[in-house]
Amino acid sequence: MKIAVIGADGQLGTDLVKTLARDEVVPLYYPEFDVTRPEKVRLLLQELRPGAVINTAAFHRVDECEDQPEASSRVNAVAVRDLARLASELGFILIHFSTDYVFDGRKGAPYVESDAPNPLNVYAVSKLAGEFFVRAIVEKHFLVRTCGLFGLGSCREKGYNFVDRMIALADEGKSIRVVDDQWVSPTSAEELAARVSDLLRTDHYGLYHLTSEGQCTWFEFAAEVFSLLGKSPRLEPVSSRVFAAKARRPLYSVLENQRAKKIGLRDFSDWKNALRTYLERKSLIPK
Ligand SMILES: NC(=O)c1ccc[n+]([C@@H]2O[C@H](COP(=O)([O-])OP(=O)(O)OC[C@H]3O[C@@H](n4cnc5c(N)ncnc54)[C@H](OP(=O)(O)O)[C@@H]3O)[C@@H](O)[C@H]2O)c1
Repeated sequence: MKIAVIGADGQLGTDLVKTLARDEVVPLYYPEFDVTRPEKVRLLLQELRPGAVINTAAFHRVDECEDQPEASSRVNAVAVRDLARLASELGFILIHFSTDYVFDGRKGAPYVESDAPNPLNVYAVSKLAGEFFVRAIVEKHFLVRTCGLFGLGSCREKGYNFVDRMIALADEGKSIRVVDDQWVSPTSAEELAARVSDLLRTDHYGLYHLTSEGQCTWFEFAAEVFSLLGKSPRLEPVSSRVFAAKARRPLYSVLENQRAKKIGLRDFSDWKNALRTYLERKSLIPK
């Protein structure tokens, strides 16, 4: 299948391009390919005629989104609407990514696909709007909510992913404070890319939660990174109130891959095993 990957050098995009090597992959890079320029996007996709388009582009600096709701909605919602319209018109399958942050965290137990979203911040509102556009406009879609990605193509928009940021802070000898009251499902971008590759060969279209198995707080995530690396930086658990971040975040946004399990998609590894694999791939720990 001819598959166009938008944001091909991003964190998830990098693993997708690698995983889909058996297919005819067309990597699309920002800013040459910008989802917020619908005429150019249309011309290119009309010419390419892909069987599927995977959109990893996002404006996801969550605190900045609070001050830039227009920019946030341009990338995360309006551009997604335009892609969905094109998908419907040109007949390609659209694979799009959303976030655990669409939930408010009050459930206190893993969220399944049928749980009602209730976003707490501008980023999450814009991502949820993007979800609605996909679901309303294009029948052949896979909408994938994920959480806490770590992948070898480090997240350029944020500078680096959480694991790499923890390692960098430890290497600088800094004492590190990490929130211990926000629960997440850290997720391997490599495994997510592999599951997306499996999924897009089915016709089980719709909404999926896809994350590594298990859950932890950001503090526990950091502690596991250092435990695997045999490092002992000064690491302090703190409440999210201490950081007073601009954007409100859910205190519990763990996702359950309920629908993936129902259709028999391969299980994800536990996040700790996936983290070990990630550190091995980076040659930071021996295999
Ligand atoms: N990272 C996480 O922990 C996380 C958690 C939950 C959900 N998600 C979702 O998962 C998806 C992938 O995340 P990621 O971590 O792989 O993000 P990422 O590393 O920032 O990758 C996004 C890619 O899209 C490109 N891009 C940015 N703006 C664009 C535009 N206007 N047009 C075309 N391309 C554009 C980026 O290019 P530049 O690098 O040059 O800007 C980058 O290549 C996103 O939808 C995100 O909302 C991520």
